[in-house]
Amino acid sequence: MENKIKKIALLTGGGDCPGLNAVIRAVTRTAILKYGYEVVGYIFGYRGLYHNQKVNLTLDSVSGILHKGGTILYSSNKDNLFDYLVEENGQRVRKDVSDVAIENMKKENIDALVVIGGDGTLTSARDFSRKGLNVIGVPKTIDNDLAATEVTFGFNSALEVATEALGRLHTTAESHRRVMILEVMGRNAGWIALEAGIAGSADVIVIPEIPYDTNKIAEKIKKRDKEGKLFTVIVIAEGAKPKNGDVVINRIVEDSPDPVRLGGIGNKLANDLEKIIKDHEIRCTILGHLQRGGTTTTYDRILSTRYGVAAVEMANKGEFGKMVCLRGDKISSESLENVIGKAKLVDEHGELVQVAKSIGVSFGD
Ligand code: F6P
Repeated sequence: MENKIKKIALLTGGGDCPGLNAVIRAVTRTAILKYGYEVVGYIFGYRGLYHNQKVNLTLDSVSGILHKGGTILYSSNKDNLFDYLVEENGQRVRKDVSDVAIENMKKENIDALVVIGGDGTLTSARDFSRKGLNVIGVPKTIDNDLAATEVTFGFNSALEVATEALGRLHTTAESHRRVMILEVMGRNAGWIALEAGIAGSADVIVIPEIPYDTNKIAEKIKKRDKEGKLFTVIVIAEGAKPKNGDVVINRIVEDSPDPVRLGGIGNKLANDLEKIIKDHEIRCTILGHLQRGGTTTTYDRILSTRYGVAAVEMANKGEFGKMVCLRGDKISSESLENVIGKAKLVDEHGELVQVAKSIGVSFGD
């Protein structure tokens, strides 16, 4: 069958994470070396698509970026072209400007668009696909909360940072006989807290999927005291909430399609525990964006490269409207229609939670 693709574009959207550059590199190299396509990258995600701001991607421009976090194409988590802020008659109004983006791609003779992003970015990808654009999604997020894939790239890199942080907190917790709380990211999913908690031997893991009872966590600290373990390390996901309580919101980013930024539950837990625990100082560390920056782990470099190569193979076969995914140990794909709006959360009865419970970890439940 004649291959009609001559030129492909890619963009990175949403919060950045390690592995974006590795996908950009893999897409560009495969497209050029294997299929002879021309490759362009839109700058700042969908905003670049709307303003037609792009760069040519060549073997040279993607050289030396495999290991680097961030994205050479920049990213934005504020720009939904189906509900975009524009100035009209001196007023800022929201409009559907998706047709402008489609026109821009037509004018540039771009045959397919590879969209690298999480739920928000891929929702727009699905909506562009519904309008007939040739779109392929690549699943990105440190939160690991996308349906239809075992794992998103970026998650492993964030996990390494969180696990190392727990290791570092252990030694200082032990020296001062303190209770150390580490707050990690993840939005409404507890994957980072759960897996870092297991790998970093946390005594208590608190995740959004299992609302916690402060008294139960205090009991665990007291139990450890009785056993002669005079320190406790707790990892808590930013989206965790107490039983009969709510999440803690750090800020509202008004111009973002998903404006709520979580954060602060670790300090709340510290304050609440201080009212019960009198024998230990309790401190909280918020790991924040350290989880998103820096070097990409070996696992994520390989996964991102596999995803990038698969995206070009799909373009070559004309398989559009789908997201690349990992099933078992095989790269596969899933319709974007089946991915969007179905967050993948931790199963409170699942194997990983049971593993942690079996080795004595408390979930504060
Ligand atoms: O989705 C990735 C993520 O890092 C979340 O874990 C976190 O809640 C959010 O993005 C933070 O967003 P921002 O960088 O806008 O503060």
